[in-house]
Formats: sequence, C-alpha cells, structure tokens
Amino acid sequence: MKGIVLAAGLNTRLYPVTVAVNKQLLPVYDKPMIYYPLSMLLMAGIKDILVIADPYNVSAFQRLLGSGEHLGVKFSYAVQWIPRGIADAFIVGEWFVNGSKCALVLGDNVFFGPSLEKSVAEASQLKEGAVVFGYPVDDPRSFGVVEFDEQGNVISLEEKPQQPKSKYAVPGLYFYDNHVVEMAKALKPSARGELEITDLNKAYLEQGKLRVKVLSDDLQWFDTGTHDSLLHASNEVARYQKETGHYVGCLEEVAYRQGFIDRDQLRALGMRYKNTAYGRYLQAVADGLV
Ligand code: DAU
Repeated sequence: MKGIVLAAGLNTRLYPVTVAVNKQLLPVYDKPMIYYPLSMLLMAGIKDILVIADPYNVSAFQRLLGSGEHLGVKFSYAVQWIPRGIADAFIVGEWFVNGSKCALVLGDNVFFGPSLEKSVAEASQLKEGAVVFGYPVDDPRSFGVVEFDEQGNVISLEEKPQQPKSKYAVPGLYFYDNHVVEMAKALKPSARGELEITDLNKAYLEQGKLRVKVLSDDLQWFDTGTHDSLLHASNEVARYQKETGHYVGCLEEVAYRQGFIDRDQLRALGMRYKNTAYGRYLQAVADGLV
C-alpha cells in the first residue's frame, strides 16, 4: 500500500499566522505538524509516500523531509496548484498511486494513544473497498459525520451537517483500494466547489464497500484547523510525552520500531539534533532506555 499526506490548502482559518507559511510546517509542541500524520503512515507500514503541498511551500517540505532515505522510506512530492478539495489528492497523485491501494492522511490531523498502531496496521491490510474511522466528539458540525444503525452498520455520511445525526466525526485518515483514483475522478464538485472526501467515502458506501471503525477511547485525535485546537493539540502532546516518557509523531522512532532503519542509523539521526531533548530522546530509544 502507498500513502499520501495532503498538506496544501489555503489555511485561511489560521491567518495571519499562515499568510507566509503553510500550516503543516507550524509546530505542534516540539515537532512540525506534518510529522504527526506522516508518522501514522509509517506506523501502518507504508514506505512509499507522496507529500502534496501548495506551490509556495513544497520546497520547504522537501528541505524538512528530504528523500526519506534517512528513515528507510521514499518521499515524493507533488503540487496542488489550486485547493480543489481533499479528494483531489488522488487526481494530483494519480501518477504516484499508479493502480495501487493507497492511504490518505490530512496534514493537520494529530492522533496518539496506545491502540493506534493496531488500528492503522489492521486498516492497511484492506483487500477491497475503503476503511475510515469514527471518533466521538462533542460538536461534530465541523467534520464529516457518520451515522450507524443499532447493529453498527453505516447508514449515512454527511460533510459538516448543521444537525449531525450522530456524535461520530470521521477523522482525516482514510484507506482505499486500487479503485480510488477512478472513484475520485468520477466525483462532482460540491456546493463550495470542492471534491469532497465525504463524497468519495459515500461512493464506496453506495457500493457496499465502506467500513467505518470506531476508534478506541484510549486514543486522542485533534484536527488543528483553528488557533484553539492547535494550542490544545500542543498542550496535549506535551502533557502525554511528559507523563508517559514516550514521544508521539516521532518519525525516526517509528521508522526504527518498524525496522525501516537499524540502531546505528537511529543513533546517527539522534546526533543530528544532539543539543536538543529530541536528539537525546532518539539516543535513549537507540539505547533501549525508552
Ligand atoms: O479533520 C477531519 C476533517 O477534515 C473531516 O472530518 C472532514 O470530513 C474533511 O472534509 C476535513 O474537514 P476540514 O474542514 O478540516 O478540511 P480542511 O479544508 O481544513 O482541510 C483539511 C486539510 O487538508 C488541511 O490540512 C489542508 C488540506 N487541504 C484541504 C483542501 C480542501 C489541501 O491540502 N487541499 C485542499 O484542496
């Protein structure tokens, strides 16, 4: 399976912070935001990854992440010239997907918690159709919302409903089979002029090929789309890391634990940041102390 991180968009909700810099390069506590969604793909065992960025910031992502070789993976880059919607990722990335199964993660979604690895590893095993997630939130009106019947079957999906039919938001992490590009190409723009990811998921639902897995409540999920949610995510990552002694969204650690790089490579990566807590953490992981 391949993976795409979608990190373009205008990010106007965070103006003036994002006038000159892409949101996904901003810090969530001690790492650039994009580390968190990217770590989800590595955790799912995905090694071939496309980063989609806007034309002004793509070079910054290249400087930050490079070819991926240091992590034992391969990063490719593409530009989304116009923010035509989340499902457009599969049209921009058609050459990259090239008939494979493909996961998509939004560059502003932060997840962490003990059962995460199991959930993503299972989803990445999909044979046919699509797997997305449901996560209960207090106010689902700013998200895709999934409604279940009493047996847990999906009845409906709606994007940002004013009157949500359930409290289950659909987070920005999606796994699709190798029909995803043709399905995305068949979508029509929504009233706000975007190719909606919820419409893509609905197309799979209509074919009876969508599974929605409810995420365990030991997990935390943050969409960092507003100043308050960004601050909240930073505070929660800081709290979690201090309480547990484990980092979240640490690409080097995930690559090491997945066996993409060996202990010596991890040590070398730690040396690169040796004057920081981050570098010392990588050394501690390499030494088996974490
Ligand atoms: O965070 C989960 C939610 O993300 C889902 O529940 C919704 O179904 C989904 O539509 C999306 O809603 P948002 O309102 O949060 O989407 P937003 O426009 O903020 O874009 C999410 C990310 O995707 C953001 O990092 C920018 C990027 N993006 C978005 C669009 C529309 C692009 O790179 N290109 C685009 O064209």
